[in-house]
Amino acid sequence: MLTLQNISISKHLSSTRTTTLILTCFVLISSLLILINYPSTTNTLLSTLSFQLFSFSNTTNSFANNNSNVDPPSNKKHCDIFDGRWVYDDSYPVYDPSSCPYVEPGFSCFNNGRHDLGYLKYRWQPYGCDIPRFDAKKMMEMLRGKRLVFVGDSLSRNMCQSLICHLMAFKGQTYRSGLFYNYYFKDYNCSISLITAPFLVQQHKLPNKKETLRLDTMEATISKYRDADFLIFNTGHWWNPNKSKNGENFFQEGDVIQSNMTVGVAYTKALKTWAKWVDTNVNTTKTKVFFRGYANTHFRGGDWDTKGTCHNEITPITDEKLLKPYSWLMQTLETVISEMKTPVIYLNITKSTAYRKDGHPSIYRYPGSKLRLGVIQDCSHWCLPGVPDSWNQLLYASLLFSSKGFNMTT
Ligand SMILES: *[C@@H]1O[C@H](CO)[C@@H](O)[C@H](O)[C@H]1NC(C)=O
Ligand SMILES: *[C@@H]1O[C@H](CO)[C@@H](O)[C@H](O)[C@H]1NC(C)=O
Ligand SMILES: *[C@@H]1O[C@H](CO)[C@@H](O)[C@H](O)[C@H]1NC(C)=O
Ligand SMILES: *[C@@H]1O[C@H](CO)[C@@H](O)[C@H](O)[C@H]1NC(C)=O
Ligand SMILES: *[C@@H]1O[C@H](CO)[C@@H](O)[C@H](O)[C@H]1NC(C)=O
Ligand SMILES: *[C@@H]1O[C@H](CO)[C@@H](O)[C@H](O)[C@H]1NC(C)=O
Ligand SMILES: *[C@@H]1O[C@H](CO)[C@@H](O)[C@H](O)[C@H]1NC(C)=O
Repeated sequence: MLTLQNISISKHLSSTRTTTLILTCFVLISSLLILINYPSTTNTLLSTLSFQLFSFSNTTNSFANNNSNVDPPSNKKHCDIFDGRWVYDDSYPVYDPSSCPYVEPGFSCFNNGRHDLGYLKYRWQPYGCDIPRFDAKKMMEMLRGKRLVFVGDSLSRNMCQSLICHLMAFKGQTYRSGLFYNYYFKDYNCSISLITAPFLVQQHKLPNKKETLRLDTMEATISKYRDADFLIFNTGHWWNPNKSKNGENFFQEGDVIQSNMTVGVAYTKALKTWAKWVDTNVNTTKTKVFFRGYANTHFRGGDWDTKGTCHNEITPITDEKLLKPYSWLMQTLETVISEMKTPVIYLNITKSTAYRKDGHPSIYRYPGSKLRLGVIQDCSHWCLPGVPDSWNQLLYASLLFSSKGFNMTT
């Protein structure tokens, strides 16, 4: 059943108002250390930016603007909130780039010395309607007594840290359990967690230490979280020839290791394994399932492993005709979702990311200012604050609009 629309969760959202709460998220707290280790850098950069940054405060009210109570436009039955453009907005970013302690060093471009600041200032603007400004308090109310879990690759980590920074007004408590970071909002009994599963299916080490990928088995940790209230999946970047050993003796089904399976065939099989797992394990009365789409990379003159770069990109692409075509990975995903019985809310953020060649850490993936030249550039992940903030704003809009019975897409 095609389930990209018509989601209704209002009952779900209002039923737990009275519970106390939690929130768990796997967040790299090491960025705290960065702030401690580089205070002088931070202060210097801050002083050059005082016009904007000092207007931030920890109260959510200060984030509110004219948009904060946008209702789904009643005269517009359909609005694709994922089709639009980036507009310069002086009220951005929505959180202070120097002081969200939950951003890991690799995404902390500002603290790592990135001086061009335009990339902090863009807001996603759909063509057909406005989306509401992220209201941390409302979001916390929607998460009250609930568990939200990200499952996927490091781009999920990017999004998870952004969400925590958005919610920072509600000082939480972090704790670490096992391999994971969790973020817990005590006053709301709400947890946000992150499971690292870049292929969604199980990576597998055979006794002889040879690594394979079990296309027919979901990543094991996920079963513990199947009754979470919100599951937000992603996969994509690891389905490339390098990370999957060119498909040679890498993909495994049952006991059989395929000697020569293309990445495309393997990816489709893995997605079907995911779809079947969701259809079999998820109680749709309780759990809302999201899939966050593919985020484009912007390597010039090479790829991630062949010295591609994106340094000195300081503005987004403005001409839509220059955007990369929609990823085949997501076309396959759309087909798989359309055959599922579970309603999956597809956060179709690919196009929005395609514009943002300016949004990557590039050489600012490390703290310090001396080791710049010659570093392998990161043109896959995103600086925070930055592009993943819009994914959470779209998540927030999806939750709000859906609770009002609004069709986001046609
Ligand atoms: C905001 O929160 C941070 C971290 O919890 C704290 O150090 C700072 O003093 C707070 N600022 C205000 C204005 O309350
Ligand atoms: C809010 O709306 C008023 C009236 O439409 C306008 O004058 C003001 O500039 C707006 N403020 C912001 C922050 O957009
Ligand atoms: C907190 O929420 C969990 C579900 O996420 C629930 O099982 C638990 O009973 C809640 N605790 C309190 C004190 O309400
Ligand atoms: C990745 O694959 C390309 C060609 O597919 C190859 O040239 C490159 O050396 C590979 N990189 C690694 C790290 O294996
Ligand atoms: C694997 O498949 C590719 C494309 O079908 C083919 O070119 C290659 O020769 C095959 N390799 C082996 C070892 O069978
Ligand atoms: C699904 O979740 C709802 C709401 O929590 C619950 O009432 C129902 O018993 C669950 N169904 C199954 C089969 O577990
Ligand atoms: C997702 O966005 C892409 C790029 O804008 C578009 O081609 C595709 O049709 C969208 N998918 C859905 C289900 O809306």
